[in-house]
Amino acid sequence: MGNIRVAAVRCTVVLAAALWLGAAVAQSPAVNPKEAADARTQQQQQRIQPLNNEPVWSEVRSGTPQMTQVRGRETDVLIQPEGQTWRALRVPLTTAGGFLVALTLVALAVFYLWRGPIGLKAPPTGRLIRRFTLVERAVHWTVAVTYTILAVTGLVVTFGKAVLLPIIGSTLFSWLATLSKLLHNFVGPILAVALVVLIVMFVHENIPRAYDWLWIRKAGGLFSGEHVPAGKANAGQKVLFWLMAVIFGLTLVVTGLILDFPNFNQTRQTMQTANTVHMIAGVIAVVLLLGHAYLGVVGVKGAYDAMRTGYVDETWAREHHEYWYNEVKAGREAGEGVPPLAQRTA
Ligand code: HEM
Repeated sequence: MGNIRVAAVRCTVVLAAALWLGAAVAQSPAVNPKEAADARTQQQQQRIQPLNNEPVWSEVRSGTPQMTQVRGRETDVLIQPEGQTWRALRVPLTTAGGFLVALTLVALAVFYLWRGPIGLKAPPTGRLIRRFTLVERAVHWTVAVTYTILAVTGLVVTFGKAVLLPIIGSTLFSWLATLSKLLHNFVGPILAVALVVLIVMFVHENIPRAYDWLWIRKAGGLFSGEHVPAGKANAGQKVLFWLMAVIFGLTLVVTGLILDFPNFNQTRQTMQTANTVHMIAGVIAVVLLLGHAYLGVVGVKGAYDAMRTGYVDETWAREHHEYWYNEVKAGREAGEGVPPLAQRTA
């Protein structure tokens, strides 16, 4: 009886020890020698260089796929390594972009103070010629308004946290940021359509011509005040057209649509690349837009009227776009046969 009791006690002790050991093994994150070694390396790393989790990130960046039952693109990638590069790039890129936009505003202000609005040398004749049709103006203003809304909301989303939040506080800023994000997402597709129509409509007058070189060499007389002849669009407008509407405009549209519609199974990296390109193109587009809007509204007297009413005085046409004026007078370009003031709607 005594032996049986001793055996029972021994069995209980062995069982308890086995259970304790099993529990200890189950609690340990390292279930095989490699993982145990990895865990030790990490512990050591935390002691030698706290907050520098290099071994983990080396493993993440190795790109080795993990195991999962979930089917779908990238479902076996828990931590996407390129995301770190994207996040790290955002800070210097947005900082540089912010400085570029601020510098452009300062440069335009200095130019305005130095040169002022460029007016006519000769008095206006009172005779008007047509510069833009109603359809051209409607398309232009649709693009101008949507492009400007996207520029302003894009700036709020990108720089608002650093620039506006400290000034207007979190209640107003969170409202403004939400509104900006929604406007940006919904106005983008409208610009996408209107921009393509604008490009088709205005491309013929923006084809480079041999005489544009002279305009570029003399910077259109913007600094010297000298008269430089030009076609319907001068070389500066042509450069702006190709950069602002075609290259950066279309880049923004394509990358914007990739970001607006993430439901087409694009990878995270595609979204990150689209986001980075969108941000760079966006900042350059804002700089170009500021230059174009400055010259159109403030810099060149009479230019705004051209896009508002569609008509310009003959003196304005001769002084700013002489080759185009000559073509209109020779009847080779539309623009003659202007209706009286009261009927000017076409
Ligand atoms: C606030 C925004 C804008 C303002 C105030 C503005 C103003 C003007 C003005 C006043 C003109 C007439 C210039 C002239 O008769 O020579 C003009 C022409 C033009 N604008 Fe704008 N604009 C704006 C935005 C845009 C945008 C975003 C685009 C395209 C992406 C654009 C493309 C054009 C084109 C193509 C012309 C005709 C000249 C040419 O063929 O190059 N504008 N703009």
